[in-house]
Amino acid sequence: MFSLKSSLGLFALCSIAFPVADAKSSCKSSQPGLPNVTILATGGTIASKASSNTQTTNYQVGVGIDALLSAVPEICNISNVSGMQVSNVDSASINTTILLELTTRVKAELADPTVHGVVVTHGTDTLEETAFFLDLVVNSTKPVVITGAMRPSTALSADGPLNLYQAVKLAASKTAYARGVMVSLNDRIGSAFTSTKNNANSLDTFHATEQGQLGFFIDQVPKFYSSPSTPRNKPQFDVTGQKSLPAVDILYGHQESNSHLIRASIESGAKGIIFAGVGAGGWSLDGLKSAQRAYNQSGIPMVFSRRTNDGFAGGDSIYPFQMTSGFLNPQKARVMLQLSLNAGYSNDEIRKMFEGQ
Ligand SMILES: *[C@@H]1O[C@H](CO)[C@@H](O)[C@H](O)[C@H]1NC(C)=O
Ligand SMILES: *[C@@H]1O[C@H](CO)[C@@H](O)[C@H](O)[C@H]1NC(C)=O
Ligand SMILES: *[C@@H]1O[C@H](CO)[C@@H](O)[C@H](O)[C@H]1NC(C)=O
Ligand SMILES: *[C@@H]1O[C@H](CO)[C@@H](O)[C@H](O)[C@H]1NC(C)=O
Ligand SMILES: *[C@@H]1O[C@H](CO)[C@@H](O)[C@H](O)[C@H]1NC(C)=O
Ligand SMILES: *[C@@H]1O[C@H](CO)[C@@H](O)[C@H](O)[C@H]1NC(C)=O
Repeated sequence: MFSLKSSLGLFALCSIAFPVADAKSSCKSSQPGLPNVTILATGGTIASKASSNTQTTNYQVGVGIDALLSAVPEICNISNVSGMQVSNVDSASINTTILLELTTRVKAELADPTVHGVVVTHGTDTLEETAFFLDLVVNSTKPVVITGAMRPSTALSADGPLNLYQAVKLAASKTAYARGVMVSLNDRIGSAFTSTKNNANSLDTFHATEQGQLGFFIDQVPKFYSSPSTPRNKPQFDVTGQKSLPAVDILYGHQESNSHLIRASIESGAKGIIFAGVGAGGWSLDGLKSAQRAYNQSGIPMVFSRRTNDGFAGGDSIYPFQMTSGFLNPQKARVMLQLSLNAGYSNDEIRKMFEGQ
């Protein structure tokens, strides 16, 4: 956990003062019997301000959990909410330290028998990575919902307040049990395992084009399409007590891709490499030769994913050292590779895990 000192260090990055991570804010009054929901705030657009109500880009993260809660007082009518600030950064700056701290907090809240569910607020740009990470490390049937916003809190038609309301409603819902970590924005409920950000600007950005959504909000009530299910062969990892995770880089495939980056990656400490390959995980012949040479020397796992927006990476392997990521996109494959390396999986076990997806 962040000590008081490190929390202040973290928040000092932003120019506004924030409640420290251990300070809980909660509903001032709440009817007895309402489900207890904990909101863990990490920053992002939902917690940001712009200088005018028509400005929707180039805004600053900096609104704390108290301001988020006071913007949506209706939340206290559907749940007894407590909020904690874990970090206050935009999602491009979320790192392993924050992820591990967030995991510890989420697990501690879920272990409390009086807590019904947890909501995480997060920037949308890397939201899918944090959601996927939590999905693989939090082993609980209680609802964990991650939400964010595409427009800053100061914008006309800011989407944060309703997204937060719906996320709390979902975390307080009895029907949300045993569905893994859920991504909830813009009336939709998606699986953290499959959802990805598809559009850089539009509100309706989180989709799993092939696998679809888990559900939808009708009049602010979550409606699920199916009974709970789990992705096939979904692994579960334990990161209790971890302070860091093995470094994994992603190399982007394109015409004339630069083979020196493979060596550079390994020399700077990567313990695994994800290739965002062309098509279904393809890579140039010259590049593959360099990768094979690097593999022969280092033995680190090299997993071929796809730069294409959707689909299955596999079957395009030319050399035995190549592993493929199945349905996982490069950023999710990276999270899974970090967690499996951390768990001490052998290359064969890593291959089986990815190719079983
Ligand atoms: C992650 O970010 C936080 C806040 O910016 C910082 O305190 C921490 O040192 C960073 N961790 C790493 C491993 O860089
Ligand atoms: C609301 O939650 C707080 C802890 O966060 C707790 O102290 C309080 O008793 C709860 N109120 C109700 C009505 O459940
Ligand atoms: C909410 O939490 C309080 C203690 O923090 C507990 O007394 C109450 O029973 C909980 N409410 C529910 C519905 O579980
Ligand atoms: C909460 O519910 C009460 C009673 O139904 C109502 O009077 C009040 O306006 C509601 N508050 C908000 C913020 O919706
Ligand atoms: C997850 O939780 C279930 C039920 O509590 C337990 O049987 C299982 O061993 C846990 N898995 C891991 C990897 O901790
Ligand atoms: C790598 O090792 C394999 C098998 O051990 C061998 O067949 C291959 O020629 C080696 N390739 C390079 C580029 O070193």
